[in-house]
Parts: sequence; structure tokens; C-alpha cells
Amino acid sequence: HADHADHAGQMNSGSGTAIEGGSSCADMTEASSSAPTSAFDLTAYKTKVDIGGRTVSAWTFDGTTPGPELRVQQGDRVIVNLNNKDIDNGVTIHWHGIVLPCSQDGVAGVTQDAISPGESFTYEFIARHAGTYWYHSHQQSSEQAQKGLIGRLIVEPREDSLRYDRDYAVTLQKLADKHWLTNGKREGDTLAAKPGERIRLRLINSSSEVQWMGVAGADFQVVSMDGQDLNGPDVIRDQWIPIGGGQRYDVLLTMPQSGQVEVYSRNKEALRVTLGEGTAPALLDKKGAEFDLASYGTPLDDGITADMTFDREYELVLGLLDINGKRFHEIPPLMVKEGEWIKITLKHEFGAEHPMHMHGHLFKVLTKNGKPLTGSPVYADSVLLFQGDEYEIAFQANNPGLWMEHCHNLGHAANGMSMMINYE
Ligand code: C2O
Ligand code: CU
Repeated sequence: HADHADHAGQMNSGSGTAIEGGSSCADMTEASSSAPTSAFDLTAYKTKVDIGGRTVSAWTFDGTTPGPELRVQQGDRVIVNLNNKDIDNGVTIHWHGIVLPCSQDGVAGVTQDAISPGESFTYEFIARHAGTYWYHSHQQSSEQAQKGLIGRLIVEPREDSLRYDRDYAVTLQKLADKHWLTNGKREGDTLAAKPGERIRLRLINSSSEVQWMGVAGADFQVVSMDGQDLNGPDVIRDQWIPIGGGQRYDVLLTMPQSGQVEVYSRNKEALRVTLGEGTAPALLDKKGAEFDLASYGTPLDDGITADMTFDREYELVLGLLDINGKRFHEIPPLMVKEGEWIKITLKHEFGAEHPMHMHGHLFKVLTKNGKPLTGSPVYADSVLLFQGDEYEIAFQANNPGLWMEHCHNLGHAANGMSMMINYE
């Protein structure tokens, strides 16, 4: 498959080549390099947070939820020293969507032990792919993430083909199972923007529920999904974008002369960003058009198609809370070998939607409901399946280690929709 080895530069830059020898996850670390360093210190602790005129208990990184926004440059060596002050069952950080060595993946009980109160752990990885990412505890994640142990990680591109005047990241969150928050606020967030300015808005759904986000008052482009740029993104209007748990969508728009744009969830009042100050735009029809990643943007041939030859093919049938009729410990890992190309067919026959997330790799979405994607190639770390959906995805096993594949409705994951991808 040498001909696939170099496509688009997106999937095939796992940390494989930089990984130093060794067969257990703990030995997988970044080779030293002269990359510039971005270093951070984060402390996990319980505190009260102001969610906008109201104070509630939360588990936080550095006293806020979401925690500090970490912004780094593509290619940086990112070093994060995590301290646990008082999270009793221990804490870790998983760098959601980042392709990094297994030892830095932050999965308690798999790639490291949880960090106990009074202890610390230093994460280190190269931020290879620019894009919108986030971080969250992966120790009892369904509890710890919803209590507030989350934050944003933005990897700015070295050179951006997109032009914009302002770059904002927006976290959509459900705190303590009841407070819907936008950037930590219960009444939505307001961000400065002036007529004529180009705005990049990085929408991150840290909740477990799908959010249909609409953009009212401006034409827009969806420029990236799960941190990976889409090719030749069309300019669209009045469409609801389905953002599954853990997923990220970046939109780019030009502020209208009327001065105001609303970006908001179809059903959750509090999940709302107001850009600029001006005349409130007309809102979208709730039954209006829905954005479809399968037919958006411009095709680009990268040589990876559903009918190429794969080294292994797997099928995962998603149930209510199971995969192939089994739950976590009973589900056999997907075995892969370094260098192999793997195809996975995901089928969702019955129940609520499942945003299926893969650690340590980017995959390509090949087909949706039996048809090849007709727009931009889509490289992602997750795919959102509604009842009845079937997707084929492909990835190259280029990052040896122990990796999770699970539903990012974290309640579903905790109830059994989690499995491993293991290297032989
Ligand atoms: Cu955000 Cu195991 O995932
Ligand atoms: Cu699920």
C-alpha cells in the first residue's frame, strides 16, 4: 500500500516513526527533537465556579470549567504537568483527538495509573496536526468529565490557508448532569465581532448528547471536523450541524453589516454564542435543512477507498449499550499489526445515537449508508451514528500501543460500549 502512504498528510502522520523501541505502552514516548516547547501546569481540584450569576460545585482544572484553553503551535513539543490536589479516585488527562504515543494517552488503567491526590504526572507529545481538540480526565470519565474536568486544546497551524480576523473556541457543556453551559456560562456567551470581519468559531461538544447547531444571520463554511480540514468547503446557509459528543466542528463566516450572528443549539437555549452587537438575526426553521458531511465540500483523491485491499476488516454492530451483543470486558479487541490497513464497518441498528471515538489514530470515513462520500475526504477521530446508519471507515495501524474505541456518550461508554484496539 505504499501508494497510500502519503495522502493529504493527515492520517499518515501517526507518531509511529518517532516512537522509540519497546513493546509496552510505557515505552512509547516521543523521540527527542528540537521542536519548540509549550509548557503548562494544570492542577485538578474541587471548587465552586460561577456559571453566570450563580455558583455551583465543580471538579476543575485550575479552578474553572472548562479549564484553561491551551493554545500551541503545530509542531510544538507540548509538556503538561498535571497535579492532583483533591480528586479522590485519581485523575488523568486524555488529549482527545491528538495522535500521540500511547503512554501519553491518559487512559487510567490502560496506559497509566490514575494520579492520586498529592501526586503529579507530566504529559509530553508533539502537536503534529493543527486543529481543534480538547482534553478531559479519562479516569471514570463519565463522572469526572461531567463534573467539570475538561478543557480546550487548540493547535494553531503553522501556515493557515484560511484567512480570519478572530479565532474563538466554544465549549458546549453539560455540568453536573444539569447545567447547560457555553464557555462555562449558563446564558450563552457573547463574543466581539465587527461587520466585515472574518470569524473562525471552533465548536466543541463536550457533552454526551448530540447538539444540532445553527448559524443565523450569515452564510458560513464548515472548514474542519474533528480538527481536520475539509477540502474546498462550500458556502452554505441555514443548516443545522449535528455535533456528537466529543466532536468538533469549525465554522468560518463573515460578519454581516447588520452586526450580529447567533450560533445556537436547536433544543438547548443555553448553548448559544452571540457574535457582535447589532440587529438580532432571524432564527432558523427548526425543521430546516441538516448539514451532511457525506456530501459537503470538494473531492480530493487520496487513494483510500472502500474497494482497496485491506489487511483486515471488522464489523461492529452497535446496540443500545453493546457492541456485537457484548459489553466492555467481553468484547474481543480489534487486533492490528503495524503498517496494516484496516477497514471497520459500523452499523447502528437500534437505539439512541452513538458518537464512536477512536484513540491514537485518525481514520477516513469511506462510505455512509452504502455510498461513498461525494464531497471532501473526511478524516476524523469520531463518527456519529444515528439509528439505522452504517459507515465504513479505514485507518492505517501506524501507532503501536493499546488504544480505546468507544462511544463518546460517556454514560454509554461506562455501561459497556468500550473496546480496545491492540497491536500484535
Ligand atoms: Cu474523549 Cu476515550 O475519550
Ligand atoms: Cu453511545
